[in-house]
This record gives sequence, C-alpha cells and structure tokens, in this order.
Amino acid sequence: MASKKLISKLNDQIGLEQAASQVYLGMAIWCEGKSLGGAAAFFYAQSDEERSHMMKVLKYVNGSGGTAAVGSSDAPSVKFASLKAAVKSGLESEKKVTASVQRITTLALAEKDYESFNFLQWFVDEQAEEEQKFQSILDKFELLGEGGRALYSIDKLMGRMAAEE
Ligand code: FEO
Repeated sequence: MASKKLISKLNDQIGLEQAASQVYLGMAIWCEGKSLGGAAAFFYAQSDEERSHMMKVLKYVNGSGGTAAVGSSDAPSVKFASLKAAVKSGLESEKKVTASVQRITTLALAEKDYESFNFLQWFVDEQAEEEQKFQSILDKFELLGEGGRALYSIDKLMGRMAAEE
C-alpha cells in the first residue's frame, strides 16, 4: 500500500506521461506533413512509449491501494519552427519528467516505501536513456547543421532509431 501523498504524486505522473504522449503525437504529425518520414516514425514510436509509461504507472497505482486518475490533456501543438526545435522541446519535456520521477523517488524513500522505490527505479533508468536519446540527436544537429543534407541524414537516423526501439 502506497501512502495517499505518494498515490497523488503518481497520479500527477500519469498526467505527465499522458501529456508527453500527446506532445510527441503533435511532433509526428508535423514531421509527416514535412515529409520527414524517419522523424515522424521516431515521434510516433515515442508517443506510444509514453502511453506505455502512463499505463505502467496507472497499473501500479491501481495495484497499490489507489485509484488511477487520467487527466484530460490539451490538444498538442502541430507547428514547430524546425525539426531541431521539436527535438529540443522534446529534450526539455523529458527533463521535466525526469525531475518529477526524482521527486517521487525521493518521497518514496523518505516514506520508507521500498516497493514504490523499487518500482520507480525503472523510470529513473528509463529517463536517463530518454534524455540521452534526445541529446544524441541534438548533438548531430550541432555537428552537421540544419541544411538540406543534414536534415536528410538526421531524418534517416531518427527512422533507424525508431526501428531499433
Ligand atoms: Fe515517459 Fe519520456 O517520459
């Protein structure tokens, strides 16, 4: 059984994962409209992944004496200044999710709720991976620029990353 306070924080996390799923869906739509098929596949996969994170927390809450709360998320933006801007915004969103996971993990430890603490370890690892994934794409932009050839290569790279997930 998790405490009411922890359940409430986990429910906030469900909302964050749900919102992230929507944001990535918006990015995928924008990419598809720009014929960036690889990047679109990457963001569609990312959106699915966030939904699976949402479900993971939701199931945990329901199995820990709480009732999962699914929020109503706003329609995502489908307009971005560039692919680099979308990826950068993705990284910023991941950093917010990481901060939230860290806060909840700290609370679980303070409450000596080792079951929740264990559950949250998966998310700690996952967030490190996610941030690294987005940062690695931004690093490619720094290396190659944002010209036509660079965009072509990075779109292909993102398509490969989606296929490898
Ligand atoms: Fe589930 Fe990428 O945060």
